[in-house]
Amino acid sequence: MKIAHFSRWGFLMAAAGSAVGLGNIWKFPYITGVYGGGAFVLVYLLTVVFVGFSVMIAEMMIGYLGRRDGVGAFEELAPRHKEKWKYAGFMGLSGTLVMFYYSVVIGWIFHYIILSFGALPATVSDAESLYNQFLKQDIIGQLLFHTIAFLITTSVLIRGIKGGIEKFNLILMPALMLIIAGMLIYAMNMDSFSKAVTYMFVPDWSKLTSEAFAVAVGHAFFTLSLGMGAIMIYSASLPKDSNLVRASIFVIITDTLIALAAGLFLFTFLFQYGAEPAKGPGLVFISLPTVFHAMGGVGNILSILFFLALAFAGLTSAVSLVEPMVQYLIDRWDMSRFKAAVSMGLFFYVFGIVAILSEIDATSAFLTWGGKNFFDWADYITSAVLLPFAGLIMAIFVGHVMEKERVASVLKTHMGWFYPVWRFNIRYIAPVALIFVMLNLLGIITI
Ligand code: PFF
Repeated sequence: MKIAHFSRWGFLMAAAGSAVGLGNIWKFPYITGVYGGGAFVLVYLLTVVFVGFSVMIAEMMIGYLGRRDGVGAFEELAPRHKEKWKYAGFMGLSGTLVMFYYSVVIGWIFHYIILSFGALPATVSDAESLYNQFLKQDIIGQLLFHTIAFLITTSVLIRGIKGGIEKFNLILMPALMLIIAGMLIYAMNMDSFSKAVTYMFVPDWSKLTSEAFAVAVGHAFFTLSLGMGAIMIYSASLPKDSNLVRASIFVIITDTLIALAAGLFLFTFLFQYGAEPAKGPGLVFISLPTVFHAMGGVGNILSILFFLALAFAGLTSAVSLVEPMVQYLIDRWDMSRFKAAVSMGLFFYVFGIVAILSEIDATSAFLTWGGKNFFDWADYITSAVLLPFAGLIMAIFVGHVMEKERVASVLKTHMGWFYPVWRFNIRYIAPVALIFVMLNLLGIITI
């Protein structure tokens, strides 16, 4: 098997790098704003603890015991019907599908890093037209930045686990954490910090609709990088005798703290300068730049640092979204790493261009079906269908299909009394939660 090994710390940084992404800093604050704050945050946190944690251990275990690409891992670990179970390993493909839009958003962030060096928009309407002009008219600009995101991601993947992914995360993750901690400390000294704390942590149950509930559960999975084979493929490179439970706890705590810190400082800034918290996807691209403008000179510095942190978060997740398929091509198609990384890179690059065109005024009509353009479909299909479905398959596989003794052999000693709780969770709670999310996001059930 052509699998390289991470160092222990390298694995923790890479797995946390995968989890901490645009989901934490861009998506979490805006969906918290849209779905009303505290109650939403609470459902998200409960899902992370009670379901996300169990599924993360399951996904890590499949990779760790399988020691190869996802398809090979399911084949290896299934006690029977190996030829059918191997198809579950194709969940790794959904990561590359996420990249159709993820890489484009990383491109927008690069654009905003550059904008941060000049005059920032003073009013929301200025900020809105700047954002819309870029998204809906500037094909060349978007193409250029999407190309840069593609080049960085692919060149890291070409260098492999040790020289590429591990090194990249060992540099970018500490830098990202420092910036986020600095922003939080800065926000703590503002009057509106307590307002942000109340907004995020005092639940108003009347705002918790069933849609909000499903979005919170779905986001908990997305933010932890579950159900796309990313955590699985990194775990195939874990050193022998690793403690999967401790590693999962580290990743989950890091991911959650960064999301909460990002939410806290963003809402503090927004409240302090009277900006709108329920702005949707434009929150960090529209409301936030006006706040940085109002701060004066220091606002430009904060803006550069903020978008830089966002770019780091996005890029470390991007490599993990594509790596499962890269390893698949290496293992099963006998490709060189170079060829595999370039092929998968070009695959998401080309469809990323389609996603850009689907946002552009002149072409969007041809790339929009049923009220959603190609960009939105890539997001919707991956998070509402593929991700919960893959999570469900993993929970069933580890909870009901794999040999009990094999599962216990890696987990029991590290878990102690928690082992039966975990087992119950993965067998019953996780499948029910995942089926609920899927049916709700598909519009089949509402309560
Ligand atoms: N967890 C990443 C985020 O929060 O942005 C996104 C992600 C990365 C999802 C890798 C799934 C994955 F396999």
